[in-house]
Amino acid sequence: MKITMDNNLGKLMTFELSKDKPTHGWFWYKEGFAPEIVEYAINYGNKIHTHKCDSKLPEIILDPFCGVGTTLLTAKQKNILSIGVDASQLAVFISKTKTDDYAEEDIGAVEIFVTNKLRSLKNTNLQKWQFELFDPRAVFPKRNYNQILAIREAIEQEEPRTRNLLLLALLSVLPQASIMLKDGGVLKIKKDKLAIPAKDVFKRKVKRMVRELRERDYSGYTPEVFIGDARALETPTESIDLIVTSPPYLNNIDYSKVYGIELSLLHMSKAEAEEVRMRAIRSFIGKDMKVNEMPEEVGELGNQIPIVGSYFKDMEQAIMEMFRVLSSGSCAHVIVSNSIIHNTHVIVDEIFAEMAERIGFSDVEIIVGAERVADVRPQKVKTRESIVVMRK
Ligand SMILES: C[S@@+](CC[C@H](N)C(=O)[O-])C[C@H]1O[C@@H](n2cnc3c(N)ncnc32)[C@H](O)[C@@H]1O
Repeated sequence: MKITMDNNLGKLMTFELSKDKPTHGWFWYKEGFAPEIVEYAINYGNKIHTHKCDSKLPEIILDPFCGVGTTLLTAKQKNILSIGVDASQLAVFISKTKTDDYAEEDIGAVEIFVTNKLRSLKNTNLQKWQFELFDPRAVFPKRNYNQILAIREAIEQEEPRTRNLLLLALLSVLPQASIMLKDGGVLKIKKDKLAIPAKDVFKRKVKRMVRELRERDYSGYTPEVFIGDARALETPTESIDLIVTSPPYLNNIDYSKVYGIELSLLHMSKAEAEEVRMRAIRSFIGKDMKVNEMPEEVGELGNQIPIVGSYFKDMEQAIMEMFRVLSSGSCAHVIVSNSIIHNTHVIVDEIFAEMAERIGFSDVEIIVGAERVADVRPQKVKTRESIVVMRK
């Protein structure tokens, strides 16, 4: 295992650069990365490294934790086939909607919706909005709550592509229309936060999307995106030329809760959150189950902090799946972060790399993109975010 440093990669490992990019920024997903990471991975095989992944352009790329589809949209922009999998229906819906093709007819219908239909919304007999953590009325002013539900209902009358665009716009503005803050892994109610009128912020979002759709200068393959589990993929063996992905970070967030409001409005039900949790990688406390057979690389830490054992057990299965689906000579680029958990520094990238070597990957390289100093009482430690590159 080799460890190198590339300071240019740090800022690409966050969603910061994605948020203002056409289509990439339609839905703010804090845990996403920038399209440049995908370009880096695509070009990696062409660069001179001590080891080489296949140097030709990949024909098919997989992201088994696809989130809001950064890998898939970048592949489409380069006319490369891609497959995405995510445990969350919300992530899959966003990925699909961002990477679909739209005719002028669809875009025109979206415009008509905001210019005409939005004025005559029905406010009566609205469906109830159920969210498992709290009543959504606690975070939306009454007017916004009613407007959101009325828009949600009216959207259902539209043709599928128009509906999807409008629904994505509505889901993406929920935080702005509420007094809710996503703070790390939790949702907080902030009474002094300004909740922007729902119709206004929705209209603004739709206008941005319409403009960006009209400026699109690519069509490219439409990816296949599935709800699924990265630990048990349905992708055929040896069928993939490149994997670019970022699994949930250890001790990070419960996606079914932090994006639960959006998920509940997407399906108008609270049942889906539990399904997401069932499929999700055990990366957060609460999914703190003890495992009997732990990957040997985790050592004592897995017994001392059970979530660490569970996390790496799940990651081991995900790496085995990556190994199975990649064709020989191809690479996986996996973005990971080291974690501080129960005042212990967990060197996730090295454990990950060691597991990958045992599973059969070769030339495993950790490319450190960002370092930061963290408190691990009584000391301070340097922790980091990295790409683990591994070749089959
Ligand atoms: C760090 S995010 C990926 C973000 C993505 N790179 C992007 O740019 O949008 C991790 C994703 O893994 C998903 N996830 C969690 N457990 C999973 C599992 N077992 N299989 C597939 N996806 C899973 C989460 O829903 C989340 O969307």
